[in-house]
This record gives sequence, C-alpha cells and structure tokens, in this order.
Amino acid sequence: YVVDKGNHRHFMVKEIHEQPEVVGHTLAHYLDLANGIAKVPSGIDFAAIDRLSITACGTAYYAGFVAKYWFERLARLPVDIDIASEFRYREQPLSRNGLSIVISQSGETADTLASLRYAKGEGQKIAAVVNVQESTIAREADIRLPTLAGAEIGVASTKAFTAQLSVLAATAVAAGKARGVLSAEDEGKLVRALSEVPRLMHQVLKLDEQIEALARELAKVKHCLYLGRGTSYPIALEGALKLKEISYIHAEGYAAGELKHGPIALIDEDMPVVVIAPYDRVFEKTVSNMQEVAARGGRIILITDRKGQEAAAIDTLATIILPEMPAIVTPLVYAIPVQLLAYHTAVFMGTDVDQPRNLAKSVTVE
Ligand code: G6P
Repeated sequence: YVVDKGNHRHFMVKEIHEQPEVVGHTLAHYLDLANGIAKVPSGIDFAAIDRLSITACGTAYYAGFVAKYWFERLARLPVDIDIASEFRYREQPLSRNGLSIVISQSGETADTLASLRYAKGEGQKIAAVVNVQESTIAREADIRLPTLAGAEIGVASTKAFTAQLSVLAATAVAAGKARGVLSAEDEGKLVRALSEVPRLMHQVLKLDEQIEALARELAKVKHCLYLGRGTSYPIALEGALKLKEISYIHAEGYAAGELKHGPIALIDEDMPVVVIAPYDRVFEKTVSNMQEVAARGGRIILITDRKGQEAAAIDTLATIILPEMPAIVTPLVYAIPVQLLAYHTAVFMGTDVDQPRNLAKSVTVE
C-alpha cells in the first residue's frame, strides 16, 4: 500500500497523531480486555527466568529503559539494559536461565542484530520487539513480539516507540502475574489502566496548539535540559533526543536527582528546563529539583497533571497539564507532549523534520 502524509505537513506529525490507534491496536493484541488478563507470549516461561537483558539503540533503547522499571517493579525480575553497541562487545556473563529482549523498529539495526547473535551464541533465548515482521531481527529471534505500528516513515521514531512501550508494559504485567508478584486483581487493574491509554492520548493530542505556542519560545534557545525521575527519566532522555535530532538544538536528558551532580552548573535563563513529572510516588523529590532550578533563575517547562501543578506551586515558563492517570501508563502518554514539543520547535527552526541531516531511519552499518 502507499503511505502518504494525508492532510499532515510531515510524516512525523501524522505518526504522532496515529498513536492512539496503533497503541490501541497493539495493546489489543497483548491484552485480553474482557477478562482483564495480560497474555504471556507463547514460548516464554517467566516463572523460570531469573534475569532479563534488554538491548536496543536510540529511541528503542529508551523504550527498553522504561521497561526495566516495569519488569523490576511489577515482576521482581532483575533487568540489565544496554545500548546494543556496548552490549555486543562487553562480554558480560549472561544467566543460564536468562531471557534476552531486543527492541527494534526496523529489525535491521546492525548493532542490535549483532547483540541478538551474541546472546544467542551464549545460549540465551531471544525475544524481539520488532515492527517490521520480515526483518532480519524478526527472523532470527526465537520469539517475536510484534509492534503493530504500521510503516514509520519519519526518521525520528514516535509511534513505534509508544507501540514498543505497549508491548513491554503488557508483557511486564503478564510476567508479574506469572511470577506470583501480581494478584489477579492487580493484573485486572493494570490491564484496565492500559486499556485507557488510547483515550488519554487523544486528550493529550488536543494540547497541540498550546505546545506549538511554547515551541515558538523554545526555537529561540541554544540549549535545553530535560529532567525526570523513575519511568519519567527515560522519557526525559527521549524528549531530549527528539529535540536534538530534528531541531538541532542541543538537549540533554538527566535523571532529576543527578541535577546537582553536574547540569545545575549550566542553569541560567537561557537554558530552559523541561520537567516531566506526573503526580506520582517520586513527584515530591522532583519538586525539590525544580526549586533548585528556579532558585538559579532557570525557566521551567513543567509537564504534569492538575495535582502536580497544585503541589509544585512553582513559577514556570509554561505548565502543560495532562489528565491524571495511573503510574503504569504515564510513560506512554507523556511521550506525546515531548514529541510535539520537538516537532513544532523543528518546524519553527525550518529544518527537514522527516529527514533530519546526518541521520538515517535504519542504521545498518556499525
Ligand atoms: C536510528 C533512528 C532512530 C531509531 C534507531 C534505532 O537512529 O533514527 O529513530 O530509534 O535508529 O532503530 P531501530 O530500527 O533499531 O528501532
């Protein structure tokens, strides 16, 4: 079939807007909504696994990074998360009862494929979260966990990312149940929470105009810092990656708690700080970090919910208010405002959004 932009200006923004649909589609594949069950992918015995190693590159790596928090918390399963180009040469000992998960939109990324082969050579079972089902990674994996995102054309990954998160969240819940960590009731609650994601995404997409107006300001800066804690930390990393990839503004993502250990030295009014902070169990900790930024004249762009806005009680350059939602779904939904912020900033900068300079959709060389 022919993939076109429809009435969108770029593939990237079209793909951002497709997320409620592709996430709904992907989740429906991994969840039994009627019975409140997350399906265990066939071929995986989570009760027999003692360690997970997750490997990927770029945006897919950040999806894996979020999944580490989910698998550890919901399934009490230790997770190693690695950038594929590091994993493939590190020669770390892999557990005999371990499972390797590789994540790749294209299924052709050279370092991710090499990592798959390394882990296989070490006797690991391999599960691949992959979007292109005819790809080499899909073929060589023992277990395929498809993301049903459809063709992704924009070089900067968006819908493939949230589809990867969908697969990983559903699988982490299934693992938690299989390992006796989650009760059937816990499972049911988490499955219901996940099933709300497409609706929440629709609501968040309506913030497009507010985010576009903010992007006009962001397009004037040279540097930008993104902060988050817990599962919002990988979303901060992803937000920074999106901004630098397509707008060429230098951006860094940091764990909010690391602010004091370096980036605080850079804070001034010329470097905005995007804080991703849903009102969750680590929210208060992130507020302290925002106060540190504010005290040094830093300008904050806060992405939170109503409760977070009230509790933070802090002056910001802008506050983007999302609906309240259960913690498990925040990475999926908070991905959208950071994507939109990067997109609109890049449009104001006049860059080639779908084909940013020097980047490739799929990196098939080392
Ligand atoms: C390139 C793309 C990124 C992507 C990464 C991994 O850098 O520009 O958007 O996240 O490769 O690609 P993969 O196909 O393995 O997910």
